[in-house]
Amino acid sequence: MAEFRVLILGGTSEARQLAAALRKRSDADILLSLAGRTEKPSEQPVSVRIGGFGGVEGLSRFLREGEFDLLVDATHPFAARISANAAEAAEMTGIRSIALRRPLWSEEHGDRWTHAATIPEAIEALGAAPRRVFLATGRQEAHAAEAAPQNFYLVRSVDPVTPPLKLDHAVFILDRGPFALDAELSLLRDHRIDAVIAKNSGGDATYAKIEAARMLGIEVFMIGRAVAPAMKTVETVEDALAAIDHLVPPAMKRGV
Ligand SMILES: NC(=O)c1ccc[n+]([C@@H]2O[C@H](COP(=O)([O-])OP(=O)(O)OC[C@H]3O[C@@H](n4cnc5c(N)ncnc54)[C@H](OP(=O)(O)O)[C@@H]3O)[C@@H](O)[C@H]2O)c1
Repeated sequence: MAEFRVLILGGTSEARQLAAALRKRSDADILLSLAGRTEKPSEQPVSVRIGGFGGVEGLSRFLREGEFDLLVDATHPFAARISANAAEAAEMTGIRSIALRRPLWSEEHGDRWTHAATIPEAIEALGAAPRRVFLATGRQEAHAAEAAPQNFYLVRSVDPVTPPLKLDHAVFILDRGPFALDAELSLLRDHRIDAVIAKNSGGDATYAKIEAARMLGIEVFMIGRAVAPAMKTVETVEDALAAIDHLVPPAMKRGV
C-alpha cells in the first residue's frame, strides 16, 4: 500500500517527468493537478485531477482532506498566482513542500535581446514602423497585439486564440512543443520574421526559437519571469527527487 501522498501542481513537462520518476518509489501515491487550460492535455503517467482549487483556502482544504504529505509546485515559471497560492497553502497547512523551476535562459553571444516586463510592454517596444513579429507567448495574452495593428503577427498557441484577434495581418498556427531548431529556422525564414516576442520560460522544449533568432540575427523581445517561488526551490527533476527523498525518506509511514 502507498504510504505517502504527494500532490504535484503541473502543466509542465518537468511535472510529467517528475511524476513518472516518482512512480518508481513504491511508497508514493501521486496525484497530478492541471489547471485545465488546454483542450487536450498531454498524456500523464499518474492520476490526474483538473481545474482550480478555489484559491489558497480551496487548495489548503484539498491538501488537508486528501491527507497529502507533500506538495510539489512544478507549474510553469509564469504561472505566478498558483505558485503564490501553493506557498501560502503550504504555510497554512504545515505540509512539506518544494518548487521545481527550470533556470531562466540567459543571453548569449550573438543574441539581440530587448528585455520587457510584460507582453504589452514588448508590443509597445516594437516601435511605430510595421514589423513582422513571431508572437510565441501562447494564447492567453495574445490580444495585447491588437494595440499595434500595423505589424504582421505569426501567432503560435496550443489551442486557438479566442475571441479571434482583431488584426488584418496575422497568421495563426496551432502547435505544442518541443520544437526543433530546423523547423523554427524555416518558420522564421518563411514568414520573414524580424522580431520574436517570447517569455523567458527556461528549459529545452521551447528554446529552439531563441537559437534560431540568434542564428538569423533577429531581435528577441524577452519577457522576464515575474516572481521567484516562495518555497525551497530546485531546478531539475533529479534534484527534486533527491529533495523529496530528503523530506520524505523512502518507506516513511504517513503522518510520522
Ligand atoms: N503561464 C504560462 O505561460 C504557462 C505556460 C505553460 C503552461 N502553463 C501551465 O498552465 C497552468 C495555468 O497557467 P496560468 O499562468 O494561467 O496560472 P496562474 O495564473 O498562476 O493560475 C490561475 C489559476 O488557475 C488555477 N491553476 C493554475 N495552475 C493550476 C494547477 N496546476 N492545478 C490546478 N489549478 C491550477 C488556480 O485556480 P484556483 O485559484 O481556483 O486554485 C490559479 O489561481 C499552470 O498549471 C501552468 O503550469 C502556464
